[in-house]
Amino acid sequence: ARRSYEYIQVSEPRPGVGQVTLNRPKALNALCTPLITELNTALRAFQSSSSISAIVLAGSERAFAAGADIKEMAPLTFSEAYTTAFIESWSELTTSLKKPLIAAVSGHALGGGCELALMADILYCTTTANFGQPEIKLGTIPGAGGSQRLTRAVGKSRAMELILTGRSFSGEEAERWGVAARMFPSYEALMEGALGTAELIAAHSKVAVQAAKEVVNKSQDLALRDGVEYERRVFHGLFGSQDQKIGMKAFAEKKKAEWSHQ
Ligand code: HXC
Repeated sequence: ARRSYEYIQVSEPRPGVGQVTLNRPKALNALCTPLITELNTALRAFQSSSSISAIVLAGSERAFAAGADIKEMAPLTFSEAYTTAFIESWSELTTSLKKPLIAAVSGHALGGGCELALMADILYCTTTANFGQPEIKLGTIPGAGGSQRLTRAVGKSRAMELILTGRSFSGEEAERWGVAARMFPSYEALMEGALGTAELIAAHSKVAVQAAKEVVNKSQDLALRDGVEYERRVFHGLFGSQDQKIGMKAFAEKKKAEWSHQ
């Protein structure tokens, strides 16, 4: 069922592909709590929709998201932040979304906006995208995983430099450092690239795609030996899927696989 949202737009632009576009232009998509609630609702709906197999999360050309909402955070007390688990709901995206999520970043991706993009499974950006963790300039620190995910992505020394100075980095740097999988010369090319990749993923076996995402993500949490063992268990498990039989039979017969997604 199509809901109406205040801060996001939701669409199904390609077969099997869902898109969420952050849409709070007056505040450069600053991530206020109601926006995050809507984002979680939309992603939950895509997660449970059998017609959606991959998701693109985008902002506008000018801003992916300029951070958590500074005006909302300014008066918060420790007790309020602690007892309401402020920001914790952002993590729902990483814990309950089993379908691949591609972030398409153009313009500002600062603070919480940068952290949100880093939560995606694949990050694409424009060459001129403006990433950064400027929290230090506000007298605070990253609070939605930036100190952990950015450090894993770029290494300790570079992450320290970025987080301690608050300086921005470009889409070109993001691509060079491996934060972004690809960069594009324009917003249009970015969206075309993100939707094209989502469509390619959506054409694969759903069960295999879910398993592949799960095992790659394990690499971020487990030691190598445990991660390799985890991968092998899941790999063995896929011999119990119909799609493994369908895929390998189609190869032998030189045909295109028609997935059962089972
Ligand atoms: C609330 C914001 C905002 C934000 C921009 N706006 N960023 N409102 N929270 N994070 C609002 C501005 O107040 C302004 O509203 C409108 O958006 C347009 O912004 P301008 O500043 O006029 O635009 P511009 O001059 O083009 O500058 C763009 C900008 C700048 C460089 C991105 O807006 C900026 O520095 N924003 C803050 C970036 C930041 O520090 N992000 C980290 C936040 S801390 P009005 O009403 O004046 O028109 C954070 C903590 C994360 O994210 C930890 C947990 C998640």
